Amino acid sequence: MDKQDPATDEAIAKKAADLDIFNAEYNTNPGPIWREMRESCPFARTEKRGGFWMTTTYEDVQSLVRKVPELSNRQVSVVEMPEGKDLLGEHNTQTLPPITMDPPENIPLRRLLLPFFTPKAVETYRPFTEALCNDLIDQFIDKGACDGAVDYAQQITPRVISHILGIDPAQSDQFVEWVRGFIEYGFDDAELRAESNRHLVNFFTEQLAHRKANPGDDFISRMIGQEIDGEPLTDRVIVKMCVLTLAAGIDTTWSSIGSSLLHFATHPSDRRRLAAEPGLFPTAIEEMLRLHAPVSVGRIAMEDVDHKGTTIKRGERLVLNFPAANRDPEVFECPDEAVIDRQKNRHVAFGVGVHRCAGSNLARLEMEVALQTWFKRIPEFELSDPDGVTWAAGQVRGARNVPVRF
Ligand code: HEM
Repeated sequence: MDKQDPATDEAIAKKAADLDIFNAEYNTNPGPIWREMRESCPFARTEKRGGFWMTTTYEDVQSLVRKVPELSNRQVSVVEMPEGKDLLGEHNTQTLPPITMDPPENIPLRRLLLPFFTPKAVETYRPFTEALCNDLIDQFIDKGACDGAVDYAQQITPRVISHILGIDPAQSDQFVEWVRGFIEYGFDDAELRAESNRHLVNFFTEQLAHRKANPGDDFISRMIGQEIDGEPLTDRVIVKMCVLTLAAGIDTTWSSIGSSLLHFATHPSDRRRLAAEPGLFPTAIEEMLRLHAPVSVGRIAMEDVDHKGTTIKRGERLVLNFPAANRDPEVFECPDEAVIDRQKNRHVAFGVGVHRCAGSNLARLEMEVALQTWFKRIPEFELSDPDGVTWAAGQVRGARNVPVRF
């Protein structure tokens, strides 16, 4: 790629310095700014939101994610949190094990989580997910219109996670409010975030007490009595792992389902092709994960870290932009286009390394069932109101309103 002139590079570095990842316009179509940054200042720094470094290339993400524990997971949010203001402090009430722990401490807890999300384990959630998707479609199919994100995508994932955790799926609306308060709206509202966190912790504390008295075969019950190095898990760790599973499993996957529906509602040739060739679902889903990867994750430097001549100073934060890495032309041909039969697709939507997504098999199953069920029953659909489309801002990007007619 030809190098641009220094004045252009400087202008783009300045633009990056002013970039607010919570800006709605940026989130609607981030591809062009990622492209500019990748070409001119691939490891840029924004001064917004307290300031942090940002990756845009596949190579940088792959190399920085391996610098553990010096680039620590203690602070996976790149925005400063209301509690635990001293980001390097030991005590941070936002901790969500194992994602906020570094090796080796995270490893045994991660091992306890993984059995719930193996390919074989997630298959057992398929019948529930299929029935749920059909029930949801029953509620709007005769109207000939719905919001594919609100009425469909956002109803699926909280209920599936509730099912896994052994909680009445009817309580999902309540969870969704707390989870969004905690990880979506709460970024701009410290009080809301703290309050939502409290609700989630209190809720799971009560659930845990209930399971101790009435054990079942669900996630929470199976965590009770688990040991690490001969010590039983504390109630606090179990509760926080439940909060993480809920928080990590809800808006991530509904973002991907919502963005996929938006893609097919606005790309009729891809929609027609997928409807006619259902054998393409596996590659189409991977392509949606690549092109509209929802998750970027933060790290904090525990010491000065050199990255290609730039020093990330102790205490500075950075964001591993997996979605931008997925559009790196060095790795993907036609990176900003959807190629639903793309064969070589080593995307990093689920992250890389020691914290790679523990729920990726579940996310894929939910996407597959949600999209296949929709396409079987509603093969023809289109956007009804382009102005009504909205995107979530921040570290989980995805379509939040997708008004469609069929
Ligand atoms: C399309 C949907 C999803 C995407 C794109 C996604 C993405 C990610 C990414 C990028 C990470 C890495 C974090 C890091 O490097 O610090 C991660 C971690 C994690 N994800 Fe997902 N995720 C999705 C769905 C889910 C689901 C359905 C669950 C299940 C409950 C889940 C549970 C987790 C957990 C527990 C971790 C932490 C793993 C650890 O620290 O060992 N995710 N996810």
